[in-house]
Amino acid sequence: MTMDSYFKGFRVLVTGASGGIGKAVVKELLSQGAKVGLHYYRNKPDVSNLIQDTKADPEKDICLLSTDLTNMEKTERLFGSFVDWAGGIDGLVNNAGDVHVRKHFSEISEADIDADISLNLKAPFWLSRLAINNMEKNGTRGSIVNISSIAAKYGGSPQTLFYGLAKSALETMTFSMGRYCAPMGISINALRLSVFDTPFHQRHIKNLEERVQMIPAKRMGNPAEAAWWIICLLNKNTSFMNGQTISLTGGE
Ligand SMILES: NC(=O)c1ccc[n+]([C@@H]2O[C@H](COP(=O)([O-])OP(=O)(O)OC[C@H]3O[C@@H](n4cnc5c(N)ncnc54)[C@H](OP(=O)(O)O)[C@@H]3O)[C@@H](O)[C@H]2O)c1
Repeated sequence: MTMDSYFKGFRVLVTGASGGIGKAVVKELLSQGAKVGLHYYRNKPDVSNLIQDTKADPEKDICLLSTDLTNMEKTERLFGSFVDWAGGIDGLVNNAGDVHVRKHFSEISEADIDADISLNLKAPFWLSRLAINNMEKNGTRGSIVNISSIAAKYGGSPQTLFYGLAKSALETMTFSMGRYCAPMGISINALRLSVFDTPFHQRHIKNLEERVQMIPAKRMGNPAEAAWWIICLLNKNTSFMNGQTISLTGGE
């Protein structure tokens, strides 16, 4: 992607920056001069790898933040720590997400359901609300990108029902918040992904080759392709688009 001065000093919080899609978007943002809050949970990102081939200064341009996003008190503290470090927020990428436990819906417990909904819907809502309030207070015409899944379209499998429901609700939330945010010049859009080459599908897809053959493009997406669209949606040049979900699904 070409260097875009728009991102010089752009203050952006990326959740799930330790995962496949998160790392790709962080690398691209750092190479374009952004100040990035790298959220992770269990796996601390390797900063030296992320700043390779960029001019980023790890002391000034990167803030590492670890939080379990199934807990909203902690999620709120994460946002506070980011804003204390950056002095405000221009962009938010709600990328962290997972299937809490693969269990048929006939067997899941209330706690299983709560964990899926908290990570994949409540945390993105919490962070989006905090970001919108902060942007509104500071007159920032910022942007938010929510990472959804093709499970929102097909409902997922019986083992991932509440993950799919949460992602579907995330798209609805995006639409609703987009209409509220548009008059303030704040954009919020979602990117719906199918199978991407990250640790996610290694954990969750049993027969990967069979699954890939169901995609009309007959291949997985790669994280850099997702990062390209996320960067695009964060850029003010695309801010007339609001509340939308873009599908990056190889034609599926
Ligand atoms: N890859 C695909 O095929 C695919 C398809 C559709 C949608 N998606 C969506 O794309 C997004 C990125 O996924 P990915 O492919 O990059 O997967 P990934 O490599 O497995 O990364 C998942 C990220 O979510 C974080 N996370 C998991 N549980 C968390 C928790 N309780 N609290 C806070 N953070 C937590 C992980 O943090 P730690 O590793 O630090 O614990 C990691 O950074 C997710 O929203 C996913 O639903 C992916």
